[in-house]
Amino acid sequence: MPTTALTLHLNHRAITLEVVPSSLLLDVLRDQCQLTGTHQGCDTAQCGACTVLVDGKAIKSCNRLALQCANQTVLTIEGVAPNAHELHVMQQCFSQHHALQCGFCTPGFVMRALAMVHEGVPATPQAVREALSGNLCRCTGYEGIVKAICTGLEQLRRAN
Ligand code: FES
Ligand code: FES
Repeated sequence: MPTTALTLHLNHRAITLEVVPSSLLLDVLRDQCQLTGTHQGCDTAQCGACTVLVDGKAIKSCNRLALQCANQTVLTIEGVAPNAHELHVMQQCFSQHHALQCGFCTPGFVMRALAMVHEGVPATPQAVREALSGNLCRCTGYEGIVKAICTGLEQLRRAN
């Protein structure tokens, strides 16, 4: 199958790889970049398990061709922590509020939460729940997730 060169600024470094033009970003991340923290839940753009940031905006990588992201900045859950020994503030909040539940949906929730910081989403349960409408938890519930994101938004905004 013919391939095309794709350059991405992926998790803080520039990479170029050959992709089949019809490849989804999700598949390129998982299969070609071995970034398997981005999960495939529904594959129909409903669950949010595949959420990553492209140029700072949360997008569903199962719904985006990799080539559409050429020369853009892509951040996955693997690139969120500042280093190998420390969690990002939002990740710490997920841990503190017991929002790390099944683990399958969690990377998508964290990425969506990080986008909220710059979207100006108020740190209130109602606003956060609305902003999470595209991310589904199928097993335990949203209570801890919403608390974690509210706390993370407050802390990150205070720090800026
Ligand atoms: S796998 Fe992309 S939204 Fe569910
Ligand atoms: S905590 Fe992951 S699906 Fe519910």
